[in-house]
Amino acid sequence: MSQGVSGCDDQLFVYALCRVTEAAARAAAGLVGRGSRGQSSHTAIEAMRLELGKLAISGRVVIGEDNPVGDVPPNAVGLPTGLELVGGREGDTRFDVVVDPIEGTSYLARGMTNAMAVMALAPEGALFNPGPAFYMEKFAASAKARGKIDPSAPTQVKLGQLSSVLDKPVSELTVFVLEKPRHRELVNQIHNAGARVALYPAGDVAGALMAAMPDFGSGSGIDALMGTGGAREGMLSAVAIRALGGEFTMRIDPQLTTEKAAVSKAEMDTKTWMALNDLVKSDNVHFTATGITTGLLFEGVEREGPMERTQSLLISGPSALHPNGRRQVLSTWHQLGEQA
Ligand code: FBP
Repeated sequence: MSQGVSGCDDQLFVYALCRVTEAAARAAAGLVGRGSRGQSSHTAIEAMRLELGKLAISGRVVIGEDNPVGDVPPNAVGLPTGLELVGGREGDTRFDVVVDPIEGTSYLARGMTNAMAVMALAPEGALFNPGPAFYMEKFAASAKARGKIDPSAPTQVKLGQLSSVLDKPVSELTVFVLEKPRHRELVNQIHNAGARVALYPAGDVAGALMAAMPDFGSGSGIDALMGTGGAREGMLSAVAIRALGGEFTMRIDPQLTTEKAAVSKAEMDTKTWMALNDLVKSDNVHFTATGITTGLLFEGVEREGPMERTQSLLISGPSALHPNGRRQVLSTWHQLGEQA
C-alpha cells in the first residue's frame, strides 16, 4: 500500500478502518446493560485487536487500552500502548493509532445511550503524546471559531468571542459540559454569562464532534464543548476535528493524585493551551466511530432478522478530491455470527 493509496481519498482504506470499530461495537453490543464494565471492555478490546491485526498498515498503537482488572482470562493480551502493527509493506506510511474500544463503558454496562467504539490514525509522529496525563481541559467548536477564541480567557469572555464569530447572542449559545463535580464552577459561569448548558454524564468525544459539526444530522444544537475530560478522548476528538477543519484546543489538567505526581515528574506544562495544529500535525488523518448503543451522533448495533446493522461515522482529512475533509455515515448489515 503506497502513500498515495493510503491517502484520505482511498475509500477502500477508509472502509477497512471502519471494520475495526464495527467489530468492537458488535462484540460489545452483546454486553449492553449487563452491568459488567470489565467484561464489556475486555470483549471489545479483543475484537478490536483482532481486526486491527488484519489491517494492511504498519505502525504503532500510541494510546492503547489495558485489560480491565479482574474478570479477564489470565493470558489476555489487551490492546497495549506500543503494540506494533505489521500489516503494511516496506515504504508505506507508518501510522500512529489511538483506540477506544468503548467510549462510554459505564453507559454501556448500564444499558444507556451514547456508547461507541472509536479509533483514530495519523502518520507516525504527528500526534501529541499526553504521556502520563489522563485528563485534559478542552475547548471545541466549529470551523468559524478556529483561532478566534482565547481558551485561557475567563468563561464569560470566551462566550462573548464565540457569540461574535458565530453571529449569535450569548443567550442562544449552548455549551456541552460533562456532568462532574469538578465542573460546578464552570456551569455557574456559563449560566451567569447567560448561555445554556447541555450536561451529559459521559461521552465527550460525541460532545466535541457535536460542537465541531453543528450542522450534523438535524443539527446538534451544541455550539461549544468546555471542561475537563479524558486525554485519550481528547486526542481522538482532535484528529476528527483537524480533519473537519473545526476548532479544538486543550491544556493538560491532571485530576488524580498519582496522575498529578507523574505529570509533574515528567515536567509537563499544565498551563499552556495547545493549538490543534500542534496536537495533530498532519492532514493525512482518519477517524472512525461505530455506535454501540444509540446516541447523539448515530444509532447503535441493531438486530434485523438474521442480520445485524451497525452505523458508523467516518471522517478523513482534506485531500485533492475533498479539500474540506470528508465525513460519511455508513450503515452496514452483517450476517449474524460472522465477524466483520
Ligand atoms: P469511559 O469509556 O472510560 O467510561 O469514558 C467515558 C468518559 O465520559 C469520556 O467521554 C470522558 O472523556 C471521560 O470519561 C471523563 O472521565 P471521568 O468520568 O473520569 O471524569
